[in-house]
Amino acid sequence: MYCTRKINDDYTWVGADARRLAMFEGVFGVPDGISFNSYLLKDEKTVLFDTADSAVVETFRQNLLHELDGRELDYLIVQHLEPDHTALVEELLLRFPHLQVLCTAKAATMLGQFFDTAAGKNITTVKEGDTLCTGRHTLEFIEAPMVHWPEVMMTYDRTDRLLMTADAFGCFGAINGQLFADEVNFERDYLDEARRYYSNIVGKYGKQVQAVLKKAAKLQIEMLLPLHGFVWRKDLGWILEKYDLWSRWEPEEKSVVIAYASVYGHTENTANILACRLAEQGVRVKMFDTSVTPASYIVSAAFKASHLVFAATTYNSGVFVTMEQLLHDLVAHGLQNRSYLLIENGSWAPTSGRGMKKILEPLGWKELADPLSIRSALKAHQEPMLERLAGLIVEDMKRERHAEAASGKPQKRYVCRICGYVYEGDALPEDYKCPLCGADASYFDEKTEPKKFVCSLCGFIYEGESVPADFRCPLCNAPADQFVEKKD
Ligand code: FEO
Repeated sequence: MYCTRKINDDYTWVGADARRLAMFEGVFGVPDGISFNSYLLKDEKTVLFDTADSAVVETFRQNLLHELDGRELDYLIVQHLEPDHTALVEELLLRFPHLQVLCTAKAATMLGQFFDTAAGKNITTVKEGDTLCTGRHTLEFIEAPMVHWPEVMMTYDRTDRLLMTADAFGCFGAINGQLFADEVNFERDYLDEARRYYSNIVGKYGKQVQAVLKKAAKLQIEMLLPLHGFVWRKDLGWILEKYDLWSRWEPEEKSVVIAYASVYGHTENTANILACRLAEQGVRVKMFDTSVTPASYIVSAAFKASHLVFAATTYNSGVFVTMEQLLHDLVAHGLQNRSYLLIENGSWAPTSGRGMKKILEPLGWKELADPLSIRSALKAHQEPMLERLAGLIVEDMKRERHAEAASGKPQKRYVCRICGYVYEGDALPEDYKCPLCGADASYFDEKTEPKKFVCSLCGFIYEGESVPADFRCPLCNAPADQFVEKKD
């Protein structure tokens, strides 16, 4: 009768999906909805982990009361005080007069700021390492400041090894009854929205996310339970690795995002030609018209890609307004470790290149060349310049690959069985198409590179997993222990 989901014997999801919310936090479009998760623990005591957003208040109330089935609510743990998780705090305090609210000291202060009647006597503040025994379960509190507000904490259930992660590991998109990430094709259908959620909501706070990941690494965790999106009970390492990459501002793949702002199509045409030159060299390109695509999607794509190109027309002696907004957004989110190129356009006084560069300066990115400047429209004699810009990006990618190989960072190679084209990266994207013959991802085989061992006496190279103990160098007859692994 009620849309709740059982998590295990004692925990139940009592949250709700919102599909009529046009803008999350008033700025992020959520065309596929969003879930507001809340978890109920029924032990000797009853414990609710966060409430929900006012958009789903009816469903949430019904779910909670149904699952309580007449029992009192003993504890409300407020892990994050942002209103999308606290819309029912006051109502619960009125409905359950003995309810104890547990939260950090900062959250207690904010409760007083947000609510007039949030009674102080019901609030107990907790800090890092404090515990609460509810009968069979022992809960431990873990402070997680700035993931995504300063008052945030997570809760670890030592008994069932569950980590309630507040906003971390959240995702845009309604869950549609599928509470667990393994009940959907997450990588295909939700990874982009998880990245968009992370990069726009928490992206600025990579260092704080890293600090929490270090704490989490010391725990035995069987499930991650975030406040939005899916519960993780399988492949925890996979999503933790994504969070590790994102919070270190490391790109997920060698690829290019081209964002352009074009009034009459000439800047767009220039960007399109550059995309062609890049694709011809096997580079994956994603393009965005900043006047059409909301900034949150482009910010997210920029977190994924290694190289960024911004092309904008000059407007009011500055940068075209939608590009200006995007660049400020990227700076606000503190994206690091990127290489970039700029293309400016202007019919009488092109200045958008200088303007874009100034906005991006605080990020300390590597600019691969001075901005390419065009007057009104690209001319035939400028086309080779786009070829050159594409070449600079390709060269930079090669340099980065070499640096990564030298630092021991693994790079996989996938070979097309039809034409032999080689794709390099952490993983071959599911929708990948061979740039030479058009074969889809199923035609690619992962190629494992043999290790190389060099004979220290004559330089002969042996290729394989290891040098057999009885191997003798065919040139100088040196024994196996004279071979050393070649690292370059
Ligand atoms: Fe889901 Fe930071 O609120």
